[in-house]
Amino acid sequence: KNINLDITKAAQFLKAGTVEAYESRVKAAQEALENGTCPGNDFLGWLHLPSSITPAFLDEIQATADILRAKCEVIVVAGIGGSYLGARAVIEALGNSFAWLLQDKKNPTILFAGNNIGEDYLFELTDYLKDKKFGVINISKSGTTTETALTFRLLKKQCEAQRGKEDARDVIVEVTDAKKGAARICADKEGYKSFIIPDNVGGRFSVLTPVGLLPIACAGFDVKELVGGAQEMERACGMNVPFAENPAAQYAAVRNGLYNAGKKIEIVVNYQPKLHFFAEWWKQLYGESEGKDHKGIFPAACDFTTDLHSMGQWIQEGERSIFETVISVEEPERKLLFPHDEENLDGLNFLEGKRVDDVNKMAELGTRLAHVDGGVPNIRISVPRLNAYYIGQLIYFFEIACGISGNLLQVNPFNQPGVEAYKKNMFALLNKPGYEAESKAIRERL
Ligand code: PA5
Repeated sequence: KNINLDITKAAQFLKAGTVEAYESRVKAAQEALENGTCPGNDFLGWLHLPSSITPAFLDEIQATADILRAKCEVIVVAGIGGSYLGARAVIEALGNSFAWLLQDKKNPTILFAGNNIGEDYLFELTDYLKDKKFGVINISKSGTTTETALTFRLLKKQCEAQRGKEDARDVIVEVTDAKKGAARICADKEGYKSFIIPDNVGGRFSVLTPVGLLPIACAGFDVKELVGGAQEMERACGMNVPFAENPAAQYAAVRNGLYNAGKKIEIVVNYQPKLHFFAEWWKQLYGESEGKDHKGIFPAACDFTTDLHSMGQWIQEGERSIFETVISVEEPERKLLFPHDEENLDGLNFLEGKRVDDVNKMAELGTRLAHVDGGVPNIRISVPRLNAYYIGQLIYFFEIACGISGNLLQVNPFNQPGVEAYKKNMFALLNKPGYEAESKAIRERL
């Protein structure tokens, strides 16, 4: 059994035959990806990544994770964007909702940093780590990203001060480019264990490289299962799978059809708070891949039912420029039955004996009907269970659908020229060496 896509309640908002009419364009997009004839063809390493991962490679990841797990009560994962969100998405989806509060001796606490420049955040993090045996996984493909590099310098110094330089060497790992960047220079000079991010895999497509796999293994989750799920989706979304049976092809087609019909915002919705960061990962994947040349669906996300009490009003009755993609988990990992109460003061005895998830499922169904009635097209992805295997399936499904979608939109889904603008200004304002002319020009504008 695989994840299952239902587009019927989205396609009904389009003229009959719209989705079917995409068949040849989607096929051409997939062929362009396969043959490497699409824009950004030097970044297609993710396409057959799952099937190219060897057991020996996963063993190496696990062996490094085991060393960190043995030596650290806390592991800080430093990275931003594609060097951060995939690991966090998977770890939070699979972990205990209160992981950081549990005195869990089996697993280290995983914390994330290097994804902001909040002084309070970094002060409080370094303060918390003062009496902890901690290690660091520094993740940066370029090896020069300011947020991550700044954080890594703080953590490296603190780790060395607390453990001594020799011992720190065993618990600092770098995940970066094979040759370029400050992180590579540092790893080689200090003799840190390091993993390579392949040249042809961009940040937001890199969760199935050591970028995601090492932190996920450190957290105690089964990377073999994760990769196994991705491999199954690579097969299920392959070139030879007929259009009507290929979930990624169908998803790419229907969302492009909706976009052309004026639905400019896609809201990914979950009914499990553990999927919050999965939606953050998805937002980056689609936002950074599609939002260019003044085109692209705006990717948004809501946690339901939480946000039904905030954004629910807008979704039900606001501007009709949205559609929803619901990620629905069929079977929770835990079971909690609603108890009987003699006095029934809250009037909830009608729920007695039901699973909490039965209520959640009716909330989902009721919301789906209401939103469709309100003019919101609804795509539904049903996930049998929230485990590593199905998260692996979801990851590859969204990646391949994103590659197809970018090609349908006629943008290069694998670059991100727009993110350079803020960096250039920031460096100019900070008087970074080499930015003298930009510094002068920007100060004249202030
Ligand atoms: O998807 C991307 O390429 C970006 O989001 C990067 O992952 C992000 O900017 C971090 O870059 P780096 O890994 O070079 O530090």
